Amino acid sequence: MQQTNPQIIIFDTTLRDGEQSPGASLNIHEKVQIAHQLAKLKVDIIEAGFPVASDGDFQAVTAVAKEISDCAVAALARATYGDIDCAWDAVKHAKNPRIHTFIATSDIHLKYKLKRSKEDVLKAAVAAVKRAKGYTPNVEFSAEDATRSNRDFLCRIVEAVIDAGATTVNIPDTVGYIIPAEYADLISELINRVPNIDKTVLSVHCHNDLGLAVANSLAAACAGVRQIECTINGLGERAGNASLEEIAMSIKTRSDFLGLSSKINTQQIYKTSRMVSNLTGMMVQRNKAIVGENAFAHESGIHQDGFLKEKTTYEIMTPESIGLAKSLLVLGKHSGRHAFRDRLQNLGYELDDDEINKAFKLFKELADKKKDIFDEDLMTLIDDEVLIVPQTFILQNWHISGGSDKVPQAIIKLLYNGKLIHDAASGDGPVDAVFKTIDRLTRIPGKLLNYSVRSITRGKDAIGEVRVKIGLQDGRTVFGKGASTDIIEAGAKAYLHAINRAIHEKERG
Ligand code: KIV
Ligand code: ZN
Repeated sequence: MQQTNPQIIIFDTTLRDGEQSPGASLNIHEKVQIAHQLAKLKVDIIEAGFPVASDGDFQAVTAVAKEISDCAVAALARATYGDIDCAWDAVKHAKNPRIHTFIATSDIHLKYKLKRSKEDVLKAAVAAVKRAKGYTPNVEFSAEDATRSNRDFLCRIVEAVIDAGATTVNIPDTVGYIIPAEYADLISELINRVPNIDKTVLSVHCHNDLGLAVANSLAAACAGVRQIECTINGLGERAGNASLEEIAMSIKTRSDFLGLSSKINTQQIYKTSRMVSNLTGMMVQRNKAIVGENAFAHESGIHQDGFLKEKTTYEIMTPESIGLAKSLLVLGKHSGRHAFRDRLQNLGYELDDDEINKAFKLFKELADKKKDIFDEDLMTLIDDEVLIVPQTFILQNWHISGGSDKVPQAIIKLLYNGKLIHDAASGDGPVDAVFKTIDRLTRIPGKLLNYSVRSITRGKDAIGEVRVKIGLQDGRTVFGKGASTDIIEAGAKAYLHAINRAIHEKERG
C-alpha cells in the first residue's frame, strides 16, 4: 500500500503578524480580499488579526470570520480574560473559530517586560486556555520567546496548557534567534519529556532575524511539529516571518527528503504574492525565492544553454507550479549564441549562419550598452541592420477629423512601390481610424494586440515612440515601432513598420 506523507497544517498569519510589518497596513476591505485569496490557496488557518489591539482589527477579524468558511479563522489574544473575550466577540461568527492566546515564557521577558514570576505566568496561561475553551474547542497557546526560554519551565507550561485543553501548542522563535539543529533538538526534547504531548498539535512560528525562518520551520517539522505559521512574501515584524511560499514549495519539491505534504494549491502562489504586495505596498525583492522577478529567469550563457537542452538542468521546480506562465530567458551581455538563436526562432526569424553571426555581434555590442534586451530591441536590430526590411508602404501624409460629438475619421496617403494611394475610414478613436484606413490600403488586416506609447525626449515638443503588436490573419504576430512629435503619426508609422515587416518575412519564406 502506498504511504502518504504526514500533512503539515499551514497557519497563515499575513493578516496579523504580516500586517505588523513596519510600512504594511491594510484596510478591512483589503484584508477580506486577501482572506478570500488565502482560501483559494488552501491554507488551513487564517489568523485574521488581534481584535483587542484596535477597532479596525476587531472589525477586520469579524468580517473575515463572517466571509470565510473553507478555513479555520483565528483571533489573537494575550493571556487575559479581557483579550480573550474580545477575541471571541470578533471571531465567533466563523464556521471554525480559533482563539490563539499567548504569554511570554523566557526569563528576559518575565523579568523586564512582564515583571512576573514563572508561577504567575504558568497560572495565567492555564486560566487563559480554560477561558478560551469555554468559547470554542479550537484553542491555541503560544509560549512567546519559547526558543530563549528555560527548557524545564517550557516543558512544565506546555504540559499544563495541554491539560487545560490547548489543542495546538506553538513554540515560537519570536526573535529569530535559534539555529535549525538546535530547534530540532528543542522539539525532540518537548516530544520526549512532555507526557501529554500527543494530545495536542505542536506548532512553530519563526521570525527571520538571522535569515533562518524557513530553515528553522522545516527543521522543526522534521523533528515532529505538525503546524507551521508563516506569511505571504515573508511579511512580518522586523525581518519578517517564515515565508509561506518557500515552505510550501520546499515541502513539495523536497518531499523525497522531508517526507511531508501540505494542502496548499501551489498554483495560486504567484497570484497571492502579487495581491499581498500590491495591497500592502511592500515590494518583493527581485531575487526573492519562488516569487521574485528573477526566480525563474536565466541570463548566463551556460545556464541558458543547459536550460534549452533540458529544463531540469537549472530549474528544480517549474514556473507553472506556482502559477507563472513560463520561465524567462533574459537576453543580456552574459547570454550565449544558443539562447540568442532560440529567441530569434521564437520571434519567427529563420536566419542563415552569416546573418546569425552578424546579428549576434550586433546584439553583444548592444548588450554592453543596455542591461536587458527586449524582443522589440532584437527585432529592430535584425530588421534595421541585418535583414534591412524594405519600405513597401511609406506614410506620405494624413488627416484626422473628429471631436467630442463626431466620429473620428482618417484620410491617409501612402506611397506603395512608388505609387500614391489613398483612402479613408472611421473608427472608435483617432488611432483606431488611422489603423483601419491603413488596413484598407494595405489589404493586410491586423488585429491590434498591444499598443504602448512613451516619450523618448523631454519637453512639450517631446518625441513619442509608439510600439504596436499586431496579430495577422495567417496566425503570425508582428511588432512595429514609429516615432514622431505627433502621437497619431508615430502610431501610423509603427503600424506600417509592422506591416512592412510582415510582407518581408513572407517573401523570405
Ligand atoms: O512572534 C511571536 O512570538 C508571535 C506570537 C504572538 C505567536 O507572534
Ligand atoms: Zn510573531
